[in-house]
Amino acid sequence: MEIKHTDIVSLFEDALEQKPQKDLEEVGIVLQVGDNICRVHGLKKALYGEVIHFEGGNKGIIFNLDEDYVSIFLLYNHIPVEESEVAKRTGHLFKAGVGMGLLGRVVNVLGVPLDSMGAIKYEGYENTEQPIAGVVERMPISQSLSTGTLSVDSLVPVGRGQRELIIGNRNTGKTALAINAIMSQKNKGVYCIYVSIGQRQANVARLVQTLQQQGVMDYTVVVSADAGDPVLTQYLAPFVGSTIAEYFRSKGFDALIVYDDLTNHATAYREMSLLLRRPPGREAYPGDVFYLHSRLLERAGRLADGASITALPIVQIQADDITSYIPTNLISITDGQIFLDTRLFNRGIRPAVNVGLSVSRVGGAAQTEAIKRMTKALRLELAQYHELLDFAQFGTELDEISQRRLARGERAVELLKQEQFVSYSFVDECLMLFLLKEKFLDMLPIKQVQEFARHFVSFVQNIYKEFYDTIYETEKITDEQFKEMFKIAREFSKLYVPKNK
Ligand SMILES: Nc1ncnc2c1ncn2[C@@H]1O[C@H](COP(=O)(O)OP(=O)(O)OP(=O)(O)O)[C@@H](O)[C@H]1O
Ligand SMILES: [Mg+2]
Repeated sequence: MEIKHTDIVSLFEDALEQKPQKDLEEVGIVLQVGDNICRVHGLKKALYGEVIHFEGGNKGIIFNLDEDYVSIFLLYNHIPVEESEVAKRTGHLFKAGVGMGLLGRVVNVLGVPLDSMGAIKYEGYENTEQPIAGVVERMPISQSLSTGTLSVDSLVPVGRGQRELIIGNRNTGKTALAINAIMSQKNKGVYCIYVSIGQRQANVARLVQTLQQQGVMDYTVVVSADAGDPVLTQYLAPFVGSTIAEYFRSKGFDALIVYDDLTNHATAYREMSLLLRRPPGREAYPGDVFYLHSRLLERAGRLADGASITALPIVQIQADDITSYIPTNLISITDGQIFLDTRLFNRGIRPAVNVGLSVSRVGGAAQTEAIKRMTKALRLELAQYHELLDFAQFGTELDEISQRRLARGERAVELLKQEQFVSYSFVDECLMLFLLKEKFLDMLPIKQVQEFARHFVSFVQNIYKEFYDTIYETEKITDEQFKEMFKIAREFSKLYVPKNK
């Protein structure tokens, strides 16, 4: 059959009419693929951070815009992308599903449930990169967020909207401390988000099981990107978490978000940057790793309408070195840090909070007055104790005052010990700190300190319930209540029969 050239022209014309020019520009071709990153030619108008769909079903996000190609990180491991496959623009940035339906659920970065509890009903999808509230929209931090851990609430208090770094070597109880803070939010109207980044899948499963056993999943969301998931999802996980936290905040609720941990997050970002051939800087991290974490943590805070996001980022260090790159960045971004010490941990002082190196820069203003009244001299006493302890190790003869200080310090350290998954209310904490402050513990053998304090708390809870509840509601201790506390403590001391002789 003979084809006239006019027919071919009309064929082209038809084809062009069906596929407008605009659409042709939105489609590109994969040039190269490997290590979860691919280069695509032809996406001329693509945006930085835009989501791209591949013909074979994979998805990715643009991280570099070059003259001839764009570099895309892939979201799925298991769907292959081939060379010369077609890639299509979507015109939008990466979004995370948000909604109340997320409570009690474990999801990955794409919002897919990992807990076999069925589909999740999302109320909307929000960009994971959001403009951050400016100074004018923010409020000072003035309300306390109880972490349920006595040593933290008394010495490094955290306020709602604060960013408090948990820092320590591996295996020092960092996760345990954060989980305790989540447990402590029961019935407080604070929704919690636990973001797991680059941890082993088995660890995350165990942790979720613990959260379920402790009955905290009702008000908690777990966002997980395991070590085996693509680096891109590990990079995105904290941003997805904070988008969910912002949703809760927009609904007028307070939120608490734990990033466990940002060391893995920085490592994932370093891997991505090296694959993108961006110039490596200190410790081979890219120059913008500070910006990465600062823009993440700036999303926490208390807004003018009163609702807040409190962030507890976790960072792991090696051999106590808090001066390496990522930890120093995070220390300067956050409003304080809780330093967990391996030596203390190994000596059985758990939680192993190193009081000298821990600080809360804004939490003092938020600490409940009741606790503030009880902890005035505690930090100083502990500092003096540690100083004396060094002397005592040399076998020096100590005078009477020093010996008394040592004895008090020992009791303070003993009182601040706390088992895992035991969470105190701030009134419990007040009562225990009262015993220390007013020297009720000084006469006890060290072994009995914990038991005495615990029994005193349950004594007040049961026998003087009204007294307990009044302090709980007002968050203050008046002079009369203080006197009453004396009376109760004396009464209890007489009744107390030690079990732990
Ligand atoms: N207050 C505590 N009392 C007793 N044991 C504790 C306490 N806190 C943590 N542990 C124990 O210490 C171990 C380490 O705790 P955890 O996993 O929280 O540490 P981590 O610093 O998060 O570790 P990693 O660096 O591996 O993430 C666990 O076995 C845990 O049960
Ligand atoms: Mg941990």
